[in-house]
Amino acid sequence: MNQQTNQTTVLPAYIFDLDGVIVDTAYYHYLAWNRLAKELGFSITEQQNERLKGVSRMKALDIVLEMGNITASAEEKEKMASKKNNWYVEYLETLDKNHLLPGAYEFIAAAKKLGIKIALGSASKNAKTILKKLELLSVFDGIVDGTMTTKAKPDPEVFLLGANLLQVSASECVVFEDAQAGIEAARAAGMTAVGVGSENNLTGAALVVPSLAHLSPEELSQQLSQLQEQ
Ligand code: BG6
Ligand code: MG
Repeated sequence: MNQQTNQTTVLPAYIFDLDGVIVDTAYYHYLAWNRLAKELGFSITEQQNERLKGVSRMKALDIVLEMGNITASAEEKEKMASKKNNWYVEYLETLDKNHLLPGAYEFIAAAKKLGIKIALGSASKNAKTILKKLELLSVFDGIVDGTMTTKAKPDPEVFLLGANLLQVSASECVVFEDAQAGIEAARAAGMTAVGVGSENNLTGAALVVPSLAHLSPEELSQQLSQLQEQ
């Protein structure tokens, strides 16, 4: 069922993380978490922020509280998480296509043209709102977001659900991720992981590109075939 190009095989399914891969929202998450941290009397560095990427809202909050050495009751945590989310949603108000990350739209369009099935695999409960603002909601053959999962990345649940929606096996999927937790989730699912960002922050990916503007589906297939031959 794989499609053949000149010398390589194109894997039939792609699963995209949203924040930091398709759209530049990772910075807004950081702003909102740092605003909460500042209220609590400390701040979060950009390097520390790497740990917050990819994980669910409540897991991210636990990490933030651990950074500040703060303990809170379940009720207080609910309040903090909703405060952070309100700020984050406020930041999203002005979000539009201009916030698409370089090459993301073009890469997705090229994949669709080749008949590759595409799904979203995001931890965010705001994913559908964001896709609507980007006018990308109808582009995906399947959407898995934070309202549909019970286990945060690095658990493979989100990606396995994505493969299920696309009716493909895990080994037929390539996952695009900007977070270490996401790379680990993809690998735990038995999928090929492509890191989007800096190699310093993303270990274990088959390939890391600075952005999707540096890749086409054909180039990806070639690079993956070369890796297989090694
Ligand atoms: C992920 C982000 O996509 O979504 C995380 O990388 C974030 O930083 C998570 O915590 C949950 O997002 P939301 O929108 O449900 O708070
Ligand atoms: Mg991400």
